[in-house]
Amino acid sequence: MRIIKANTYEELSKIVAGIIVNQVNEKPDGVLGLATGSSPVGAYKEIIDIYNQGKVDFKNIKTVNLDEYRGLPKDDDQSYLHFMNVNLFNHVNINHDNTNIPDGMTEDIYGECQKYEDIIKSLGGIDLQLLGIGHNGHIGFNEPASDFARMTHCVDLDQRTIEANARFFDSVDDVPKQAFTMGIGTIMSAKKILLVATGESKADVLLETLVGEVRADVPSTILQFHHDVTIVADQKALTKVIETGFVCE
Ligand code: F6R
Repeated sequence: MRIIKANTYEELSKIVAGIIVNQVNEKPDGVLGLATGSSPVGAYKEIIDIYNQGKVDFKNIKTVNLDEYRGLPKDDDQSYLHFMNVNLFNHVNINHDNTNIPDGMTEDIYGECQKYEDIIKSLGGIDLQLLGIGHNGHIGFNEPASDFARMTHCVDLDQRTIEANARFFDSVDDVPKQAFTMGIGTIMSAKKILLVATGESKADVLLETLVGEVRADVPSTILQFHHDVTIVADQKALTKVIETGFVCE
């Protein structure tokens, strides 16, 4: 795995944005897998800046998002579709018809998951998948489990995830208890993976991701088996990784 250390969140965001923009410029009709959460917000802002300078074109880009809460309407201000519109899609020339995210309101859970996998397949797979990481090692919303889920599915969110995400809601009781997420198999099928992590609270899980035994109760450990993973993290998130002797760029 390639590990890039950033000194500040601003620097981290510029590095992540640079990698995504290069991907778009190399393959202007490619497929980006995108993430929500706090970690990529700065990178999305940087991408918008680069777009405003005329240095990147999203006209033919397709996107698939990792996940969506179950039970939130598309226009709810906590839905991940709303997040993507506000933080990126509304500010660049992407065709909204080319953006994909699971429908959190569907009654047909299995059908929605199958449809999402079919969409990804019909697009030719994901060229670059952006990931954040949960404190419990979740990627997408693949929570610690006894098996790695192969495909898009609906999960019960871990109590730790619910509490971590409560910061975006009025109260912890308002956080949805379930979500649709790409499976570990879906994520691992991406040609390249770009993981972003910030802050001391991610230091343990980042070390575990790199050197821990690969096991489904720390889902991010599966990334050890992917051939093209880049981790961009700040000094605090990398503290334990650096102590262990990993060389960072
Ligand atoms: C978001 C997602 C989650 C987050 C993770 C980290 O689409 O799939 O796995 O990436 O919970 O969230 P932050 O960046 O808020 O720490």
